[in-house]
Amino acid sequence: MMIPIADKTEILIQALPYIQQYERTTFVIKYGGAAMVDEDLKETFAQDVTLLKKIGVRVVIVHGGGKDITGLAAQIGLESRFVNGVRYTDAAMMNVVQMVLGGKTNQDIVARINRHDGGAVGLSGIDKGLFTVARTTDDGADLGFVGEVTRVNTAFIESLLAQDILPVIAPIGVDAEGQMYNINADTAAGSLAAALKAEKLVYLSDVPGVLVDDVLLPSLDQAKAAELVETGVVGGGMLPKLRSAFGALDAGVNKVHLIDGRVKHSLLLEIFTTEGVGTELVHCAEKA
Ligand SMILES: Nc1ncnc2c1ncn2[C@@H]1O[C@H](COP(=O)(O)OP(=O)(O)OP(=O)(O)O)[C@@H](O)[C@H]1O
Ligand SMILES: [Mg+2]
Repeated sequence: MMIPIADKTEILIQALPYIQQYERTTFVIKYGGAAMVDEDLKETFAQDVTLLKKIGVRVVIVHGGGKDITGLAAQIGLESRFVNGVRYTDAAMMNVVQMVLGGKTNQDIVARINRHDGGAVGLSGIDKGLFTVARTTDDGADLGFVGEVTRVNTAFIESLLAQDILPVIAPIGVDAEGQMYNINADTAAGSLAAALKAEKLVYLSDVPGVLVDDVLLPSLDQAKAAELVETGVVGGGMLPKLRSAFGALDAGVNKVHLIDGRVKHSLLLEIFTTEGVGTELVHCAEKA
């Protein structure tokens, strides 16, 4: 499809106020779901984050990799089990998490972004003590070696950003005794966005946003979210997203969005247009 030149210039100019608004601000992007698996979507994601970086946004990526972990675990005869949307992680599964998240998955993302000259560097929460972790218990449920972030080495990330590096972070951490922990990627992204006082936190997943009876909620506040959790409308992998999203909002992150990673360039649509994409998480409904 050929776009007339007048339309092209119009589209570019419409992006100008957003570019001015977001220059030198920090975006934390949680990368997960289908956008990490599908070839076309991997490519458009790499283009999108590179473009954001080139216009002056300080982009930080935290990635999941649930499908890769489940895949390799199955190949070696380990079954995946989830408790309230979080992977139960015993010692054997922790090895897989380390190999997959801290290895191939991370490097694949970095390589892809760097083909577009995005300046990505892969690291995990272990590097330079990026994440200090403590074993987490989800409302008393035993999750094995699942950690939560208790402190973030923001100076380290700031120093990378100052060098024009795009950090791509695997959500793994280690405690003072050397025990490795799997950190749910949503939780890690939320903690990081909060610590960096990010302008935006965007979760890319394989759903249009928060759904109620298959209908997308354009915005959602904490009271309504609690109700949806209570009534079981929201479950599984959406639980750590909502919990970490509101935690980040409370900590001063300006905007939190949950968008459909299956839609090509959904990240750019969210950032550069006024059209509603996905679900925006808001402090209270009046502000929506
Ligand atoms: N009300 C709801 N609206 C939308 N999704 C929901 C809802 N309740 C539960 N979910 C589930 O949440 C899932 C998204 O979380 P999931 O952990 O599976 O993916 P991800 O976080 O994008 O990827 P990864 O865990 O690999 O990083 C959806 O696929 C959906 O099944
Ligand atoms: Mg998840």
